[in-house]
Amino acid sequence: PHPVKLAPSLLACDFTRFGEELRAIEGADWAHVDVMDGAFVPNISFGLPILAAARRASPLFMDVHLMIERPERYLRDFADAGADGLTVHVESTPHIQRAVDMIRDLGKKVGITLNPGTPLEALRPLLADVDLILVMSINPGFGGQKFMPSSLERLRTLRRWLDDSGSKVELQVDGGVTPQNARAIVHAGATCLVAGSAVYGPDGAQAGLERLREAIK
Ligand code: DX5
Ligand code: ZN
Repeated sequence: PHPVKLAPSLLACDFTRFGEELRAIEGADWAHVDVMDGAFVPNISFGLPILAAARRASPLFMDVHLMIERPERYLRDFADAGADGLTVHVESTPHIQRAVDMIRDLGKKVGITLNPGTPLEALRPLLADVDLILVMSINPGFGGQKFMPSSLERLRTLRRWLDDSGSKVELQVDGGVTPQNARAIVHAGATCLVAGSAVYGPDGAQAGLERLREAIK
């Protein structure tokens, strides 16, 4: 099969041991950074200073998932704090194209995403302007939720759209990814798996990462 990136979500790590938790995932491809504002989603996670600390502590690609209203207000700040990629929700701003252009102008990888209830058509006009498409396989806001099986069909549809246009954009999945469903997700066309609770489990992130890798081998 195609190469697959693993992106552990720091949301699930033990923040009392933040530096160690970052080192434990250095064998991964990206670090996924979930920013929540308590308005776009019903939870508050963390923001700029935590991203800046992660940036100082780790050489990993910082894949920042912005679950905030009108993200264009803060794109420059997140770029300055160390983001390598910035992913914005189509539902989070009336000016998604402007947000996409801003990320591009900041020199960062451009990601767009949508909630499970949003029709995929919302992405279509943007496909040529992005580096990454994130399919949310849960309603965002919390880690540890159950993967929505309907996401597989959404992945397959996007995979078809991308292949039909010869596009090489990253197709990422976020929410409820486990060693049990990872293979099906990859078969549906995903090229990057985000995983929080499946990586940062009781036996540590290295073991969690290893189990995911095995599952998609
Ligand atoms: C949820 C976040 C996810 C979350 C995934 O809103 O976007 O990245 O951390 O956690 P798991 O893998 O536990 O579903
Ligand atoms: Zn996320």
